[in-house]
Amino acid sequence: MSDDKRDFDAGAASWDEEPRRVKLANDVADAISAEIALGPSMDVLDFGCGTGLVAVQLSPLVRSVTGVDTSRGMLDIFKTKVEQQHLTNVSTRFLDLDRGDVLQGSYHLIVSTMTLHHVKDIGPLLEQFHEIMVPGGYLCIVDLDLEDGQFHSDNEGVFHHGFDRAELRMDFINAGFEDVRDTTAATMTKPIASGEERRFTVFLMSARKK
Ligand SMILES: C[S@@+](CC[C@H](N)C(=O)[O-])C[C@H]1O[C@@H](n2cnc3c(N)ncnc32)[C@H](O)[C@@H]1O
Repeated sequence: MSDDKRDFDAGAASWDEEPRRVKLANDVADAISAEIALGPSMDVLDFGCGTGLVAVQLSPLVRSVTGVDTSRGMLDIFKTKVEQQHLTNVSTRFLDLDRGDVLQGSYHLIVSTMTLHHVKDIGPLLEQFHEIMVPGGYLCIVDLDLEDGQFHSDNEGVFHHGFDRAELRMDFINAGFEDVRDTTAATMTKPIASGEERRFTVFLMSARKK
């Protein structure tokens, strides 16, 4: 694991060209739709939205989607999609919590896909999610189950080699969330450094603010 931030700008332009990522986003959007009753009165925050692979899929099912991310490069790709596809209910915002930015707004659903393992201290982030969520709102975190550090070929900016579901569940509860549930949302098979193919599992942990 490393203490440095990862540079997502560099790979932003070709991010969506990797079929594994697109498949994962499809599986994640399906898993969230199966877990949460999405509807036209819901405002959604996608934290670490990247190029919007998940956000774009959720957008027709809800009132609005706001994507926030620390990478201007990823957000630029997302913004181009929003313009080209005329997604009138989707907006994007650059945000860097380490720079003192704070999450704003009021959301019925907060989703975050494959981003938490890039956040060093997740407790305060979960507390911020709880603060900006309407009562009765939902949190959906999607990330890797514990792995041995082989998922990323370069572990710069990787603060967690996946998560232990039981520990993360306690983090959710400590941040004030209730009705914590988890399911396996997807699997991803990819080559690791040795050249061998490795299968990684990706969970969806959902919870509710009372
Ligand atoms: C692995 S990518 C996933 C992108 C997208 N959620 C997806 O599933 O395609 C992680 C994203 O999280 C963003 N990110 C990393 N640390 C972040 C932070 N502290 N706050 C907001 N975004 C962050 C990165 O810039 C990147 O776009």
